[in-house]
Amino acid sequence: MAVTLQQWIDFLDIDQEIIETLRAFLPRLAPQIDRVSRAFYRRVLDSPEALGLFASEDEVHHALAKQKAHWLEYVFAGRFDRDYVEAALRMGKIHQQRGVDLRLFSGAYAVVLSEINAIVMESISDHEQQIRTLRAVNFAVFLDLGFVASVYYDAYTDDLAAMAKDLTVSLARAGEYRDADTGEHIHRMAKMCAAVARRLGQELSWVEQLEAASPLHDVGKIGIPDAILLKPGKLTEEEMAVMRRHTEIGTDIIPKNGHEILQMARRIALTHHERWDGKGYPAGLSGEEIPLEGRIAAVCDVYDALRSKRPYKRPWTHEEAVRYLSENRGTQFDPKVVDAFLQALPEIEKIWEN
Ligand SMILES: [Fe+2]
Ligand SMILES: [Fe+2]
Repeated sequence: MAVTLQQWIDFLDIDQEIIETLRAFLPRLAPQIDRVSRAFYRRVLDSPEALGLFASEDEVHHALAKQKAHWLEYVFAGRFDRDYVEAALRMGKIHQQRGVDLRLFSGAYAVVLSEINAIVMESISDHEQQIRTLRAVNFAVFLDLGFVASVYYDAYTDDLAAMAKDLTVSLARAGEYRDADTGEHIHRMAKMCAAVARRLGQELSWVEQLEAASPLHDVGKIGIPDAILLKPGKLTEEEMAVMRRHTEIGTDIIPKNGHEILQMARRIALTHHERWDGKGYPAGLSGEEIPLEGRIAAVCDVYDALRSKRPYKRPWTHEEAVRYLSENRGTQFDPKVVDAFLQALPEIEKIWEN
């Protein structure tokens, strides 16, 4: 989660005195800003990792000019407002997208700091004022570094989150690949589960977790032999017992101590065929012994299965499927979850139309 400007300013204790000290120092710094920015870019560009970051001298000059303007207009002018945040994030993004390593970039801030410290020592003779100014520029530089680093941090975490999602969906598709109309069922499951969870008043972060985790509910089907999984007719009692094992196979596949999303996915894989009245499988849990995510997945999965065409059945209409859920409210399904599902019908229909 992003830290706001005010939180960051409060954390660093940047008060009016610091801002005024920066403003008083600015006229002494401005004539020397070239020295500061050259030192900054020398450090960034001299490292072997930086080779090829900028295509030409022109580009370096351009970047230098931007960096200088950023410092003079905002950082060392003590102007920490909304425009500043945008500018700081933009500076961070430019460097991040160019591939400037964060270690280099933040290291270069140390160079800036030492250059500025030298300017403070040279240009201010009063000892007290020197100390106040050093303190003020320290805070300003760290504030700016914080915003720059946050750009890198957000880019890395977004990247990882996107990869985790892609991997989860791939694994889920592997589970569904042989029997379902691939992809669409797991996509609808994610969206329907999220819609129901929202109606139940669950927190946004929980809803997002459920959306990411629910596609994996049937991943264990990967371990069910074709002869049973793809059998067009009714399964025998024995075959049914094998088929039911997909819940436990799912929990063998999904890592036990993994990320929260995977732990939730594991609970869903294990419990999405449990019933509210305790007559489900594999454990025969009942009521709230079944985790909420499992109870939500159960309702959405059944609705989706009813509305889908299978070798042994025609697709049910929306009304027929809803009637089934209502009739089994309190026996097969958690009544609260069925109610939330019914409230979410406008969204559910939209999910199906798409
Ligand atoms: Fe299942
Ligand atoms: Fe399913």
